[in-house]
Amino acid sequence: MVCTVVAGAFWGDEGKGKIVSYLALKDKVNVCVRTGSVNAAHTVYFDGTYYALHMVPATFIYDRCRLFIGSGANIDVSQFLKEVERTRVKGRIWVDKQASIIEQHHSAKDRKDSHLISLGTTGRGVGPAIQERASRSAKLARDIPELQGFLTDVAEEVNRAIDENLYVILEGTQGLMLSLYHGSYPYVTSRDTSAAAICSEAGVGPSRVDKVLVVYKCFITRVGSGNLPGELSKEEAIRRGWFETAAGTGRERRSAPFDFNLAKRVAKIHGATEAAVTKLDILYPECKNTSSFDQLTQNAKNFVVKIEETVGIPVTIIGTGPGALDVIDRRV
Ligand code: IMP
Ligand code: MG
Repeated sequence: MVCTVVAGAFWGDEGKGKIVSYLALKDKVNVCVRTGSVNAAHTVYFDGTYYALHMVPATFIYDRCRLFIGSGANIDVSQFLKEVERTRVKGRIWVDKQASIIEQHHSAKDRKDSHLISLGTTGRGVGPAIQERASRSAKLARDIPELQGFLTDVAEEVNRAIDENLYVILEGTQGLMLSLYHGSYPYVTSRDTSAAAICSEAGVGPSRVDKVLVVYKCFITRVGSGNLPGELSKEEAIRRGWFETAAGTGRERRSAPFDFNLAKRVAKIHGATEAAVTKLDILYPECKNTSSFDQLTQNAKNFVVKIEETVGIPVTIIGTGPGALDVIDRRV
């Protein structure tokens, strides 16, 4: 059994939700800790239903997985309660008592502060809530009556699960290029998004992690401000089938071709041991719903091999369609 960190490569929206939901079903993941906050949406598509999850871990579709939100996370209480209801996970989801709380005034500030507006924030209040946390005056989950039935010590729970040799996923949000420390500052989010930071938010030390799975998408997308090397015009993005709108905010995503050198750099900082590549069917439509690597076209195979050769790690999971089970799984 393993403790795996799942981390995004670029500016988020690589398809971490899909990869995590696949692992949940396929590997019967016992425990998942989600980090980050409501600015990120993880999309899960299963049994004909789409979920855009801002709080609940994407492993929820495996109904025996225990779900946690780590102490480093920021909780939007009404969004959390709404998602718990929709996903019917009450009784198997817990929140760390020291996770901090996003309040109305945080999102109001996110939407009217001219500096934050210039960064193109999601407006969900995460940056202002983290500012308050850093100034040691934030409300924590333990202070909120509606959360009393969900509280636990997540670090204790997840470390016990690792001691018991259970299968644990630490679910990162966003991507390394949005990291406060390693990304395209100032056009970044308000926290570090590296694999090490994902561990820190969950309360898991680096020696306890077995695998770091970096998730790449076959092309790069970005919402908000900041430079995007190789950016295409909207017309060209539409022509290539790369044009997307954000699951969380509905905003249009900018897009650019895959950047192999950037892929190498982010894998290094994450300490990635393997990679997932999503949306291969968008780049190579003949690959749609393929579940065997051998059946890919030569161009598609070459693309995957070039990632492995440039980055120096194996591409173990490849997305070939939107559903949680639409993958090529090359592990063993
Ligand atoms: P904030 O995290 O809402 O403060 O936004 C800061 C920057 O990060 C903006 O460019 C956002 O568009 C971007 N961002 C934050 N979360 C996500 C995400 O989950 N996916 C993609 N971009 C994000
Ligand atoms: Mg997203």
